[in-house]
Amino acid sequence: MKQWISAQDGLDSIRLVDAPEPEKLQDGEVLVRIHCVALNFRDTEVCMGHYNHHKTLEQRTPIVPCSDMCGTIEKLGPRNDDCGLKEGDRVMGIFNQTHLKGQITEKDMSSGLGFPLSGVLTRYRVFPAYGLVKVPDYLKDDEAAALPIAAVTAWMAINTFQPLGQPLTGVDKVVLLQGTGGVSISGLQIAKALGLTAIVTSSSDAKLDRARKLGADHTINYKTTPAWQDKVLELTGGKGADVIFETGGAETLEKSFSCVAYGGLISSIGYLSGKEDAPGARINANVLALRRNVTLKGMLNGPKERFEEMLGLYSRKQIHPVVDREFEFGQAKDALKYLVGGLHFGKVVVKVA
Ligand SMILES: NC(=O)c1ccc[n+]([C@@H]2O[C@H](COP(=O)([O-])OP(=O)(O)OC[C@H]3O[C@@H](n4cnc5c(N)ncnc54)[C@H](OP(=O)(O)O)[C@@H]3O)[C@@H](O)[C@H]2O)c1
Repeated sequence: MKQWISAQDGLDSIRLVDAPEPEKLQDGEVLVRIHCVALNFRDTEVCMGHYNHHKTLEQRTPIVPCSDMCGTIEKLGPRNDDCGLKEGDRVMGIFNQTHLKGQITEKDMSSGLGFPLSGVLTRYRVFPAYGLVKVPDYLKDDEAAALPIAAVTAWMAINTFQPLGQPLTGVDKVVLLQGTGGVSISGLQIAKALGLTAIVTSSSDAKLDRARKLGADHTINYKTTPAWQDKVLELTGGKGADVIFETGGAETLEKSFSCVAYGGLISSIGYLSGKEDAPGARINANVLALRRNVTLKGMLNGPKERFEEMLGLYSRKQIHPVVDREFEFGQAKDALKYLVGGLHFGKVVVKVA
């Protein structure tokens, strides 16, 4: 069968190769025929050899990249009687395959698809049954593939401190979404479905227009309004945002601290470069955190139980993930380059089958 592999030495070097068909299934295993793979920023980092901030994860090359797929169960292995899945079911993989409940652990981090485990940019893959979630009927394959990292991370960015089954609600709760990539646009859809108020920032007026069509209550172009934190305070009557999707990192974090509500939540999603600021150059993050009494919570996706909780809302509200563009399987390299280029709005998908 065909699959893409990366030696983690650049996007141009990823290769489509022949690989052996998966062999006999072991107890609890499931063979999945993959239909669609949605790309994440992480996948481009893995292919470029830049995904190295989780120091304890073993580097393996070459690796099949990508983590987020929708496929159909081709075959169930032995001892799967209670797994709740059957042949023909459409399924998504959970990102960290062993992270089923509660707090993520070091062991769960070692079960990440597309690094350090072999990923999903392949025609077939064997999964443990527990690492799969059924796709709600109303979702198309490409939409379902868009959910495991982007939407689950967005769900957790809003609901990480909420008890399971009691997501955040209320028009008085303001969520600030930075940029219009996969996580932020999922966050926008979830925020609006929960009845929250959403503010979206982007470098592009055209993208902000699309965000408004998806329900964004307020939009700010962070290129033409570099002091967007002041605008957030203005839009919220001085209160600030209750939840901030901190995807920007070093360039955005200080501004986020200036426009978060008292007692608010900055969900640290993207990379926080510049933690060791030069003396006098920038206020240290610890000082910023205590100044407005906020929690800075590092996000590492979320467990299966929260994925399923999220799917409940998706099904009830019939939320369709936003797929910006689809590429053929043989164009996976172009798809990864397109993602790096940042012209997308929402998710980029590779059609495998
Ligand atoms: N911790 C976790 O569990 C987790 C999970 C998923 C993703 N992530 C991380 O979160 C970040 C976003 O992931 P993604 O998959 O959504 O990426 P993506 O789809 O590639 O999003 C890229 C978009 O982010 C926006 N952006 C870029 N620089 C920005 C800046 N300085 N300020 C504000 N927005 C900026 C741009 O939007 P505009 O063109 O609209 O400006 C760009 O199109 C990445 O760093 C990723 O690695 C972490």
